[in-house]
Amino acid sequence: MVDLLFFQPIQLVPWCFFCIAYLVWRRYGFTRATGGRPLPPGPPGRPIVGKIFDFTQHDVHRLFMRYSEQYGALHDLHGLGKRIIVLNELSAINDLLENRAAIYSHRPESVSGGVLMGFSKSMILLPYGPEWRAHRKLARMALGPTQLKEYAILQEDIAASLAEALLDTPHDFFSLVRIGAGRMVIAVTYGIRNSAFQTECIMNGERFVEFARRTFTPGNYLCDILPFLKHAPSWVPFQCELQHGKEAFIEFQTKPFEYVKQEMDKGNILPSLTLRLLQCPPQGMPDFERHLMWVGGAMFGGMPVCTYATVLTFIMAMALNRDKQRIAQAEIDAVIGGDRLPRIEDRRQLPYVDAVIKETMRWQPALPLAGLSRCTAHDDFYRGFFIPNNSIIVPNVWAIAYDPRSKYNPEAFIPERFMDVNEKIVDPDQWAFGFGRRACPGQNLGENSVFILVATILSVFDILPPENEALEQEFTQHVFRSPKPFKCSISPRTFAKARLVRLRAAEGVA
Ligand code: HEM
Repeated sequence: MVDLLFFQPIQLVPWCFFCIAYLVWRRYGFTRATGGRPLPPGPPGRPIVGKIFDFTQHDVHRLFMRYSEQYGALHDLHGLGKRIIVLNELSAINDLLENRAAIYSHRPESVSGGVLMGFSKSMILLPYGPEWRAHRKLARMALGPTQLKEYAILQEDIAASLAEALLDTPHDFFSLVRIGAGRMVIAVTYGIRNSAFQTECIMNGERFVEFARRTFTPGNYLCDILPFLKHAPSWVPFQCELQHGKEAFIEFQTKPFEYVKQEMDKGNILPSLTLRLLQCPPQGMPDFERHLMWVGGAMFGGMPVCTYATVLTFIMAMALNRDKQRIAQAEIDAVIGGDRLPRIEDRRQLPYVDAVIKETMRWQPALPLAGLSRCTAHDDFYRGFFIPNNSIIVPNVWAIAYDPRSKYNPEAFIPERFMDVNEKIVDPDQWAFGFGRRACPGQNLGENSVFILVATILSVFDILPPENEALEQEFTQHVFRSPKPFKCSISPRTFAKARLVRLRAAEGVA
């Protein structure tokens, strides 16, 4: 009725003609670009928003696995102008992220974390290009086999010191493990010893990671879906929050770096990846110190979450599976004896402990959607489907971990699945640390951290479920999956083990 006040019916004809011509032209352009091939299939969505808010659902990785039963290895979700393609099979992930790395190694733009919180120059978010390559080069230089040996001693010191803290206040295990993982990062990245400053850095790190977790959780900030909102005034609540995140980020990244620069000449710090690179900078890298500060921040930000998530999940699994715990303890006793604590170099002699760690990473992966998504650099075709430029690519590694074709129940905690020579189980080190050129640069260091914490805890403590109540098996959602606080009982296996821990912890320098 209102329209008729402005238009006579005859005047609508050219408009209708124009609209139809536009739709035909778009369809023609699309068909030409796709060569007539369809987009990957996917569940039907709502008008405009499509299926974009699926990402905010509880256990979204399980939802995507269910979709894959219906739509196959890759399925499409779209809405609000974004196209998201979820990959649910290792072969598809490797075909695209490894074998077509030139197309699939970008990250999607993060408005909340990157633009507004200022994290965009971190290796974790940088687009695939020269600056990202410079950061990866520094990370490689700092994480070579010789350096890992130097860091191993610090990691063993911190594992002993965590065990000592567990003797004193075992009921605080949840926060002690988080602090232990944080201390490992601070020691390895910046060489900062146990001190008030170290505690301050760990707290700053935890504060920043909490902001980062929120920005990396899809759907948390509308500005990631509607990027023009980044221009909203600074008093709008999400802008205020991200401004606080930015302050936390600057403090977390700059303070320890400046500290290393001040202290390195006094010889007051431990060997660390920042120190090593400051002492032997690479040739011909302009703006080296600025790059190094960002690399330190990326390491510091990337490392503790996966480490503590894995160790806390291990503690939960041991409390729930006493039989597996006893087998692992017996292996450690047989190989290491009672005179010392485990060392990182023992790992190869402890295949069952190794299988327990693999099973922990499979049972509850810390990053079920492989951390951060990727973004295509141009149009591509795969398995007869068209994958447009700028599509967001999400590898759902949960679908690999919970492969229903396995002989073993995927929901159960069974380390033996990794020792069965007749069953081909995909090792988590093929998917838990990411893929292709963007795969985790800290994999070996992270594996060492997890191993030494797990082996030390197993060697010294018995872990039992809480008395008279069920153990809560709740996990945080979305990007990082970590147990929510739960109760269990942790007590030294023998008096001699407790004494050993105190002696070893007293020798530590980290
Ligand atoms: C249990 C331990 C760890 C796990 C499970 C893990 C897992 C991952 C995953 C899945 C990714 C995403 C890779 C991709 O996009 O394909 C990643 C990236 C990354 N990780 Fe780790 N990580 C661990 C430990 C570490 C450690 C110890 C460091 C630091 C020394 C680290 C630093 C990074 C960085 C900087 C990136 C970004 C790489 C890039 O975008 O180029 N991570 N990690």
